[in-house]
Amino acid sequence: MANHSQFDKKITLVTGAAAGIGAAVARAFAEQGAHLVLSDINPEGKRLAQELNDEGASVEFIQCDVADAKSVGELFQTIKDKHGCLHIAFNNAGIDIESSKLADGTEDVFDNIMNVNVKGVWLCMQQEIKMMLASGGGAIVNTASIAGLGAAPTMSIYSASKHAVVGLTKSAAIEYAKKGIRVNAVCPAVIDTDMYRRALEGDPNKELAISKMHPVGRIGRPEEVAAAVLYLCSDAAGFTTGASLPVDGGSTAI
Ligand SMILES: NC(=O)c1ccc[n+]([C@@H]2O[C@H](COP(=O)([O-])OP(=O)(O)OC[C@H]3O[C@@H](n4cnc5c(N)ncnc54)[C@H](O)[C@@H]3O)[C@@H](O)[C@H]2O)c1
Repeated sequence: MANHSQFDKKITLVTGAAAGIGAAVARAFAEQGAHLVLSDINPEGKRLAQELNDEGASVEFIQCDVADAKSVGELFQTIKDKHGCLHIAFNNAGIDIESSKLADGTEDVFDNIMNVNVKGVWLCMQQEIKMMLASGGGAIVNTASIAGLGAAPTMSIYSASKHAVVGLTKSAAIEYAKKGIRVNAVCPAVIDTDMYRRALEGDPNKELAISKMHPVGRIGRPEEVAAAVLYLCSDAAGFTTGASLPVDGGSTAI
């Protein structure tokens, strides 16, 4: 693990860290020497924390349901008590449990997606901003999606939730621009994670069709999203705030 990185010992929170993009971002920050607070509703996140600690990183795991204000309150109270500050936050926990046209969607699915993808990001951002204001600034990155920049047929609720993440990102970026807090979003296209594998339902034709949707002819890797997140959190992105960065193999350029 690196010693002389700008992220060395920075208190860094990653939500939705047990799998996929969150796990790749956790690993990338760990390699740069950050002190990581990994969080997930799934206690399996502990396993990743252990694995990274075994490799010499400094990582703890705190279970939290981002859609539950009490659980989020406890997460941040623990961070405050243990560390007193927070430098970097990656709000990434999200669900995609929908596959129907808008008129066929159900209230339950709507509430679940909005609670995790929008309320969860909002609840965490509130706490992060308060902590960062108290310690002179920080960097926040939210996981939106290309579905937050354009249409997502049969996933209209998910798309609305990710447009909301872009809205939260832009508004907070402006509100705290002079307070040393930068707020940006990453907007991945299809990335090879459990979420994607669930959507494929083992159908190789679907896999080929999804790859072809991307101008580069393939889907993305979680590590490619991680690279964008680390850039947005780095000093090199000091003049970048309120941005929604596509990590999409050219998908939104069409
Ligand atoms: N994989 C893709 O193609 C893709 C594309 C664009 C955006 N995204 C977004 O990236 C983020 C990560 O997705 P992924 O592909 O890594 O999915 P994933 O399902 O592999 O991982 C998501 C993680 O979030 C956790 N999580 C779910 N609900 C939670 C809750 N209420 N509280 C705390 N943690 C919770 C899960 O336990 C899981 O570990 C999501 O916000 C997703 O919408 C994914």
